[in-house]
Amino acid sequence: MAANYHNANATNSPYGSGDPYYNESSGYITPMPMKKRTSNWVKFGIPVALAIVVAVVVGAVVGSKHSSSKTASASGSASDSSPSGQAAAASSAASVKNAIGIYPTGTDSQYLLPLYPSTVSFLYLNRGRVLNILTTNQTNAAAFTSPTFHPTTDASLAWPQDPFQPSNPSPTSLRPDRPRLIAPSYKWQVLPQLIANDVYLKSWNETIFGNATEYYSLPPVQYFMDGSSGILDNCRYVKERVKAFAYVYRMTNDTKWVDRTVQELDNAAGPNFGPNNSTKWNPSHFLDTAEMTAAFAIAYDWLYDILSPSQKTTIMTNMITYGLSQGIHGYENANGGDWSGWWAADNIQGNWNCVCNSGLTLGALAILGDDTTGTAEQILSLSIPNAVRNCVNAVSTDGTWTETANYWYFGTTGHAEMASSLMTAAGSDFNMLVGSNFDLTGLYHMYVSGFGSLFNYGDHGPNKYSTTANPMLLYGDYFQHPEYVLFQRDQHDAPEPWSMFWYNPTVSGAFWDGMPLDHFFDNSTDQWASMRSTWTDETGMYVAIKAGELLGHQTHNDLDCGDFVLDALGTRWAGELGSGDYNSPDYFTSDSQDAVRWLYYRKRTEGQNTILVNQQNQNVVQAQPTVNHGTTGEVQGSSTVYNVPNSSTAFWTADLTTAYNDTTSFKRGIRMLNGRKQVLLQDDITASQPIMWRMHTNATVSVDSSGSSATLTIDDKTLNMQVLNPTTGINLVIGDAVRFANDPPLPAGAVDSPNPNVTVISISLDPGTYSLQVLFNPQWPGMATSDFVTPPSVAIDSWTVTSHN
Ligand SMILES: *[C@@H]1O[C@H](CO)[C@@H](O)[C@H](O)[C@H]1NC(C)=O
Ligand SMILES: *[C@@H]1O[C@H](CO)[C@@H](O)[C@H](O)[C@H]1NC(C)=O
Ligand SMILES: *[C@@H]1O[C@H](CO)[C@@H](O)[C@H](O)[C@H]1NC(C)=O
Ligand SMILES: *[C@@H]1O[C@H](CO)[C@@H](O)[C@H](O)[C@H]1NC(C)=O
Ligand SMILES: *[C@@H]1O[C@H](CO)[C@@H](O)[C@H](O)[C@H]1NC(C)=O
Ligand SMILES: *[C@@H]1O[C@H](CO)[C@@H](O)[C@H](O)[C@H]1NC(C)=O
Ligand SMILES: *[C@@H]1O[C@H](CO)[C@@H](O)[C@H](O)[C@H]1NC(C)=O
Ligand SMILES: *[C@@H]1O[C@H](CO)[C@@H](O)[C@H](O)[C@H]1NC(C)=O
Ligand SMILES: *[C@@H]1O[C@H](CO)[C@@H](O)[C@H](O)[C@H]1NC(C)=O
Ligand SMILES: *[C@@H]1O[C@H](CO)[C@@H](O)[C@H](O)[C@H]1NC(C)=O
Ligand SMILES: *[C@@H]1O[C@H](CO)[C@@H](O)[C@H](O)[C@H]1NC(C)=O
Repeated sequence: MAANYHNANATNSPYGSGDPYYNESSGYITPMPMKKRTSNWVKFGIPVALAIVVAVVVGAVVGSKHSSSKTASASGSASDSSPSGQAAAASSAASVKNAIGIYPTGTDSQYLLPLYPSTVSFLYLNRGRVLNILTTNQTNAAAFTSPTFHPTTDASLAWPQDPFQPSNPSPTSLRPDRPRLIAPSYKWQVLPQLIANDVYLKSWNETIFGNATEYYSLPPVQYFMDGSSGILDNCRYVKERVKAFAYVYRMTNDTKWVDRTVQELDNAAGPNFGPNNSTKWNPSHFLDTAEMTAAFAIAYDWLYDILSPSQKTTIMTNMITYGLSQGIHGYENANGGDWSGWWAADNIQGNWNCVCNSGLTLGALAILGDDTTGTAEQILSLSIPNAVRNCVNAVSTDGTWTETANYWYFGTTGHAEMASSLMTAAGSDFNMLVGSNFDLTGLYHMYVSGFGSLFNYGDHGPNKYSTTANPMLLYGDYFQHPEYVLFQRDQHDAPEPWSMFWYNPTVSGAFWDGMPLDHFFDNSTDQWASMRSTWTDETGMYVAIKAGELLGHQTHNDLDCGDFVLDALGTRWAGELGSGDYNSPDYFTSDSQDAVRWLYYRKRTEGQNTILVNQQNQNVVQAQPTVNHGTTGEVQGSSTVYNVPNSSTAFWTADLTTAYNDTTSFKRGIRMLNGRKQVLLQDDITASQPIMWRMHTNATVSVDSSGSSATLTIDDKTLNMQVLNPTTGINLVIGDAVRFANDPPLPAGAVDSPNPNVTVISISLDPGTYSLQVLFNPQWPGMATSDFVTPPSVAIDSWTVTSHN
């Protein structure tokens, strides 16, 4: 880039020699008039624009007078790891961040996605000070740069090192000061300064104050037993409130927040909460107990210095009686015994294990030393090894959460709270992070996030009160993945107290800069693919599809090999139905072939966007798909405005034969066509029983007179789908998302969750051999009919990146 810059015969001014706004000794000293300069950007294009950003940062780094070669300076800056170089880079990055402000211009109301600007800003800095910002519609350049952390010892820009660095950490040898959990006092001390220098922290702080104020005036959370979800919502509400109240107290020293916290806790341990003392926090649904224990732990620890001795004793006693001692009972009954400990068994590698071990660990860490019963020590001796054996293995080797994309939130929130608390309280993660696959789980979350919400296969779970994607901030910092931090800080659920302490404010850049459009997750538990046309335009194309085994998902999956979602034009065209009713008989009892779970429509193969043979469920035990894939490998650049080249493509294929009975061979493939503006879905199948292709959509569907194509509309958006092959005998049929009349019956009293407004598009084929090819053409603005391509017919075995050119 720098070479081009010089080829353009420019001086140090990006506008070329003679720029009246450029002063050779001090850089830009006058704000740039915006309109007047636009044509220069067109002239110099991307190399110039990027050179400026680099050069300008460098100017701050070395404090030069911008008179040396930008080439040398630019390469120098990247490698200038001296303390002064790093400090200057951090300071400059902070200036850039605050000058741009919060990147998203808003949040999509339907899918809660951040909306990124389609204009881009160019910054003019002098020694880290922003002199001007130029906003333009130029699409090939931006001020947004590669994700980076800028190490610095400047306490107004970065967290200092934790003074507590035990040489031989032990879970029972804790830091001398309070708080112990997640937010030690050294962090509170610098937080106001960091807030002053970071637009994100500033905004989150304000939101937390606002939330706390809202909660303040509400009555304490009332006990409400909600069937199989127990009192989980109640407990998570209490936790959410306690976090906010305790945060605001520590930021203001106003004791009204302490009083309000105590009121909340007194109620949650009081005579009107729960049927009796032994079931107060509903230990038979231990998530509830664990989340309430965590709430009490945070209050006890964050307010330790202000609570009276008798208040502390009350909180601790209640926590031990209703929480921790129930937890010990659970561990003792982990592998058999009564109901209370199933989550601690060594095959429970999912959110339950993470949340339960986490809540108990926070509780034990909070009271260790004050508790004379030995309960806290006992919990820690059980919870940490249990979580390392189980919770930590809920992530497969490729980063995928083995339950579902939504359960990732619950599991990682529990995991991150526990890992973070152990690090702050005892100085080590005790292998909650080291040696785990959590370094990749942020990648999973990013790629499973589509434009029409998540690729939300399987159960989507209960309400997410106090559950967020903010573990991205912790994992991003810990594993040095700045893109995780950048991705999450723009999300609607970022503002909450944990973010204030997990966020590393030295991060800079844009998560999309350098981020590949596609990723293929190949672990056999959940082989799946994520393909898109952009990271920053919510009207772009997103396709995700899965194969994977049908066991090993903590009974949260569907029988869904081959299932896909398709987003385009800002909406979801092929989608998921989500959880069934958790209170339905035997919904979770078993995931074996004959399990009742697989009788419910939303869990059955017929409830997925895949092929059905003989109207039967997929083969739970034998399904062992294999996959293949390819991509032209584009990465998005720095701009929020990104158009893929026309040659850009990606494909994924799976051999799903083993997932089906009565099927000699079945391969499903999906690929992007025509610069990722069209999608081809192909099924090469030989079956001895009737075959049915199915897709669930919220669209209004009208089948065209030929019977082989259909027009789908959602609001004012249109997508055409067309069966390319077979060319005869095709009849697209539309119907409701309900079970077949001849499906095996549901248990007495059970009903399927209704799927209002969902249409099933199906194609029925007689037994035989087919290559069924369905083309999806979203009607993009400005795209003429003649701009759409009709791909050649290529057997899936012969698919390559170039096979459809
Ligand atoms: C960018 O383009 C949009 C639409 O074409 C226009 O409304 C807007 O004013 C332009 N912004 C700038 C900074 O040129
Ligand atoms: C946090 O937000 C509150 C409410 O807006 C504000 O009063 C306070 O000054 C903020 N704290 C800092 C350190 O900026
Ligand atoms: C916190 O407040 C913001 C508005 O400032 C709101 O959007 C958000 O839903 C609130 N969060 C919670 C958990 O109440
Ligand atoms: C709150 O009190 C602590 C301890 O006395 C003090 O360090 C801190 O500055 C005070 N904060 C505010 C906002 O007054
Ligand atoms: C406590 O309440 C539960 C639920 O109502 C009940 O099953 C249990 O027998 C009660 N236990 C005691 C000791 O009263
Ligand atoms: C429940 O526990 C509280 C606090 O320990 C105690 O005051 C109360 O008497 C207990 N209730 C019953 C019914 O045992
Ligand atoms: C998939 O991930 C699991 C961990 O969840 C690991 O045990 C297994 O070996 C991985 N399988 C493959 C094929 O990599
Ligand atoms: C229909 O829209 C809802 C709300 O956005 C979404 O949750 C659901 O997955 C969609 N269903 C389908 C079949 O696309
Ligand atoms: C498929 O065949 C297996 C035996 O290989 C059998 O256990 C299973 O019940 C069959 N699936 C269905 C849906 O009938
Ligand atoms: C279904 O569509 C009707 C009519 O458009 C609408 O009133 C209703 O809210 C929709 N229901 C759901 C669950 O989206
Ligand atoms: C890319 O494809 C579009 C139609 O989708 C066409 O309008 C455009 O000219 C093509 N660009 C190139 C460079 O071939």
